[in-house]
Amino acid sequence: MLNAIFDRRSIRAYSDEPIDNETLTYLLRCAINAPTAHYQQPWYFAAVTNKAILDELDADFHRVYKNGRPMSNKPVTPDYKLFFNAPAVIFAYVSPSENPFSRLDCAMAMENVVLAATELGLGSLVNGYSIFMLKEHPDLNEKYKKLLQVPEGYEPVITAAIGKRKSALPDARPRDESKFKIID
Ligand SMILES: Cc1cc2nc3c(=O)[nH]c(=O)nc-3n(C[C@H](O)[C@H](O)[C@H](O)COP(=O)(O)O)c2cc1C
Repeated sequence: MLNAIFDRRSIRAYSDEPIDNETLTYLLRCAINAPTAHYQQPWYFAAVTNKAILDELDADFHRVYKNGRPMSNKPVTPDYKLFFNAPAVIFAYVSPSENPFSRLDCAMAMENVVLAATELGLGSLVNGYSIFMLKEHPDLNEKYKKLLQVPEGYEPVITAAIGKRKSALPDARPRDESKFKIID
C-alpha cells in the first residue's frame, strides 16, 4: 500500500486491453470499504466498460466545450479524449444530505480505487472535467444518470479512469514539502 501511494501517477495513455468484471468488482469493494462519516455510505458507484457510452460522453464534451476546457480554457483538440481511451471508468455519485462530509467520503473511496488499481499494476486517472460537464448541463446529467442506471437522488462527484498503461510510468510530479509542518 505504501508503494502504491508513491507509485500512483495520473495515466493519460491506455492500452485497449479490457478490465474484467472481477477486477472491477474488487476495485468497487475497495471503494465501499472507505470510512464514511456517521457510517452513512452516501455513495453510488457505476463502473462503465461500455465503449459506446464513453464515446458518447467524449462527443458531448467536444460539443459543449468546443471553445475550451472548463477551468483552464485549454483547447479541446479533435483527438482529445476525456479518459484517454481507458477501457473502464468508475463514476462516483453522492446522495447529498445535511452531512457536510458526504463528498469527502466519496473522495476517500476513489482514493482507495486508484491506490488499489496501482497495486494491481493498473493505471488510473481521477477526472473532474466529466463532472464539470454533468454539473453545468442538467440535461446531460439526467442522460448519463439514466445510461448508468444511477438511482434517484444522486449527484455526480468524481470519476476515475482505469486501465493498463500504454507507455512507461511517467515521472512523479514534484510535491511542495512546505505544505506540512510538525508541531512539537
Ligand atoms: C479532483 C481531481 C480532478 C482531476 N481532473 C482531471 C481531469 O479532468 N483531467 C486530467 O487529465 N487530470 C485530472 N486530474 C489529475 C491531476 O491533474 C493530477 O492528479 C495532478 O496533476 C498530479 O499528478 P499525479 O496524479 O500524476 O500525481 C484530476 C485530479 C483530481 C484530484
